[in-house]
Amino acid sequence: MTTDHLESMRRTHHCQALTTADIGREVVLMGWTQRRRDHGGVIFVDLRDREGITQVVFNPAVDEAVHAKAQAIRSEYVLGVRGKVAARPEGMRNPNLVTGGIEVLVTELKILNSAATPIFMIEDRVDVSESIRLQHRHLDLRRPNLQRNVIARHRAGAAVRAFLNANGFLDIETPVLTRSTPEGARDYLVPSRVNPGQFYALPQSPQLFKQLLMIAGFDRYYQIVRCFRDEDLRADRQPEFTQIDMELSFVGEEDVMAMGEGLMAAVFQEVLDLTLTTPFPRLTYDEAVGRYGLDKPDIRFGLELVDVSDIVGASNFKVFADVVKGGGIVKAINVKGAVDMTRKELDDLTALAAVYRAKGMAWIKIKDDAWQSPIAKFFSPAEKEALTARLGLAPGDLVLFGADTPAVVNESLGQLRNHLGEKLGLIDRERFAFTWVTHFPLLEYDETGKRYQALHHPFTAPLEEDYPKLASDPLAVRSRAYDLVLNGFEVGGGSIRVHRVDLQQRIFAALGMAPADYEEKFGFLLQALASGAPPHGGIAFGFDRLVMLLCRESSIRDVIPFPKTQRAACLMTNAPAGVSREQLDELYLRVSPLADK
Ligand code: AMO
Ligand code: AMP
Repeated sequence: MTTDHLESMRRTHHCQALTTADIGREVVLMGWTQRRRDHGGVIFVDLRDREGITQVVFNPAVDEAVHAKAQAIRSEYVLGVRGKVAARPEGMRNPNLVTGGIEVLVTELKILNSAATPIFMIEDRVDVSESIRLQHRHLDLRRPNLQRNVIARHRAGAAVRAFLNANGFLDIETPVLTRSTPEGARDYLVPSRVNPGQFYALPQSPQLFKQLLMIAGFDRYYQIVRCFRDEDLRADRQPEFTQIDMELSFVGEEDVMAMGEGLMAAVFQEVLDLTLTTPFPRLTYDEAVGRYGLDKPDIRFGLELVDVSDIVGASNFKVFADVVKGGGIVKAINVKGAVDMTRKELDDLTALAAVYRAKGMAWIKIKDDAWQSPIAKFFSPAEKEALTARLGLAPGDLVLFGADTPAVVNESLGQLRNHLGEKLGLIDRERFAFTWVTHFPLLEYDETGKRYQALHHPFTAPLEEDYPKLASDPLAVRSRAYDLVLNGFEVGGGSIRVHRVDLQQRIFAALGMAPADYEEKFGFLLQALASGAPPHGGIAFGFDRLVMLLCRESSIRDVIPFPKTQRAACLMTNAPAGVSREQLDELYLRVSPLADK
């Protein structure tokens, strides 16, 4: 007696393999029932596996017993079939399928498993909520587009490894149970049973370990590595996500950026058969924010922000004059040809800007004969002329204004710009527009914590010419950090690191840390830097985001096999979940009564 349900049946081909060249061959296919149709006593089944679909036919004229058995087949039943490849009759061919010229006339059928009626169709487009899909992810993942995404992800990863292996990088693992690695998010903590009251932190990135590997002399490191950040989730953020992490010794920013470009080119060539043009364009942080409002500009379309503070600051429009007097700025976007935008649409844009703290959104419609706007009356002919020249105004245009602090104006107009790019169809969906953003500020001021914090992380080197400002004017210090932006998404970020211990101490001091404080947290790094650290730098790419863009998806959840929801939950396994009193006792933990609230 055998427990092997396949018995002597072994698969000879995948469901995408057979073509008219195989006519006459005996084959064995295995897969799932995509569809079953009965036509004049003949049963047709679309048999599906990860590669594709083949039509298999149960004809009583071929084998009566097999045909009778096939009556039981339902959607998603798992089948093994043996049969002969035959040409499909004229008029039955499907040119949309690779296998559309043939069918398999079945002589032996094994129903390997039955299946509950699937709660949604296994098709690219399904009409169910994402939470239903995530609860039944095993079914969801059977859908062809998710199969394609997971396979594309595998191919991208393989291309990354091949490229980096060929360029002298070593794949080295780093710990998951570790200490806090500051990247600006909250840590996930893991209690230690053997050290009561003490906690590991899951790595927000392997940052410190990869620097230690450079100090240890490994020269070039990479890892496709899981990182953990307890932050608010969005379409392009997950609490656990994957980085392509790399670090190189004896390099400057040009070397790291060139390596990153080579890597992107290799991945796009392999996955999409697309040849990228390198080097990628570059913008400094000031240029990016100045022209696009954001430090991750989508450069696939224009609609650039233009500073008009000098023109309107002395005007009779009090809002603009007051903002400029108070040290703020006024910027405008010329939306070409959008003069017919309705009041409702303008109100919606104003509401969107308000989400980003804008207090209003003045507008002017450039009509053939006059400017139409609640604020046009405040501008003198000279001011109108200056605006026309600066913004390139012509009849048919719509001008939108933001007036506030630079931070508010840039962010709100930058977001408005992205929204308009979508809404007005200005974005070429086929394009992959990379850009580097360089010369980020080293520090930013955290209003809530009332202290400086690193914009990238505290191990990023300042520009040498800005060292003197570290103590006197910290916010003016520029860093040797660079981000890689693709179609408006930050897909990578890195920097040249501080490799001298005295400079690292100065930066910790600029961040408001006392020596005892940084010795306690980062003493091991300081010791390592003092032991002969080579100049080094690196970068990490967001693998999920990159694959999302490669697959032309709009959420990273569609390229992660088992993603979490906005509430950081896994709907399949119901993680996170409560634990028993015994487990808590072992860890010396109590759940606060506040947890119930
Ligand atoms: P950074 O914090 O910029 O740099 O992270 C690198 C890249 O990782 C991606 N990323 C994320 N993707 C999905 N979900 C998230 N929650 C998430 N957070 C970040 C982004 C980002 O560009 N140690 C440094 C790298 C270095 O300096 O070498 C770091 O982690 O695409
Ligand atoms: P008000 O004089 O407040 O009625 O504003 C006239 C126009 O200016 C309205 O369209 C407002 O949306 C716009 N506006 C008000 N404050 C700002 C601001 N800070 N930036 C841009 N536009 C503004």
